[in-house]
Amino acid sequence: MYSIEDIDKIRRHLDKVGRADRMYLPHRRSHEALQILSVMNFKGGSGKTTTSAHLAQYLALRGYRVLALDLDPQASLSALFGNQPELDVGENETVYGAIRYDDEQRPLKEVIRETYIPGLHIVPGNLELMEFEHDTPRALMKRKPGEALFFARLSNVIDNVEGDYDIVVIDCPPQLGYLTLSALTAATSVLVTVHPQMLDVMSMNQFLAMVADLLREVQAAGGDVNFSWLRYLITRFEPADGPQNQMVGYLRSIFGAHVLNHPMLKTTAVSDAGITNQTLYEIERGQFNRSTYDRALDSMDSVNGEIESLIKKAWGRAA
Ligand SMILES: Nc1ncnc2c1ncn2[C@@H]1O[C@H](COP(=O)(O)OP(=O)(O)OP(=O)(O)O)[C@@H](O)[C@H]1O
Ligand SMILES: [Mg+2]
Repeated sequence: MYSIEDIDKIRRHLDKVGRADRMYLPHRRSHEALQILSVMNFKGGSGKTTTSAHLAQYLALRGYRVLALDLDPQASLSALFGNQPELDVGENETVYGAIRYDDEQRPLKEVIRETYIPGLHIVPGNLELMEFEHDTPRALMKRKPGEALFFARLSNVIDNVEGDYDIVVIDCPPQLGYLTLSALTAATSVLVTVHPQMLDVMSMNQFLAMVADLLREVQAAGGDVNFSWLRYLITRFEPADGPQNQMVGYLRSIFGAHVLNHPMLKTTAVSDAGITNQTLYEIERGQFNRSTYDRALDSMDSVNGEIESLIKKAWGRAA
């Protein structure tokens, strides 16, 4: 068995001495742009945080340099990564510190933390993020000509750490406020998580209509809203559930290839791991019935592999 630190060392070593035509470290090259992936939907519990956490860890385990950004005041992503929002994250230690409008503003680099997975960093969240929702209307009233619009603030601060990462994964709050709008503007691609049930899908339609309106406004104000890709991810899917299958069929008929091929299966392995703030990639296989764990991991890897292919495609690499 090799630890993730060993694998990281081996990759780095081979990158120096290995064959020139092999890619031992998948880091992006100078002509490949930083990928900023926003995971969103204003329906609570649609699986945004679970998706963000597993995707960020999967990509880091594959050798990419990943920044996970918790934009949700509830800060469940931070908790999953071992940063308890009320205990471990102090004042001015979230991304709010970097995008706030007053003199307390600090560089994003200062609020980035390491995790125990090499190559994976996190900007934790806590309730302080709510301040941005309150400050922004005031700032809009006082705006001087030429000043960056609120929705560009997040992309601007991410630009300052651009060279350190290959992929940024942003976990959005379950509402369409200024934070989510900032994530939408910063994003190079968007993942909309959807639980295949009637009420969830109806709420998602509302979400999409509002996003479309807002994006038109952002564009009119000079913001950039060109995504490399946008995909719907079916979450907490139960293959034996008839109505869910019908709903998935309906989503696929409407959104076609914009729905990821692989759904994320509902499994006790994910929810049980979550109880102790762990992901499938962290929890011991021995804690579960083997087939339960293997099926869960297989489903998660398939979803993440499909997203990795989209990222590679955006870089112009062979998927
Ligand atoms: N594939 C899955 N199998 C089983 N349980 C899951 C799965 N995905 C998510 N869950 C559980 O569903 C709940 C909601 O998931 P999650 O926190 O990821 O949603 P969310 O969209 O981030 O929620 P919020 O809108 O509150 O931020 C969690 O308790 C999580 O453990
Ligand atoms: Mg969440």
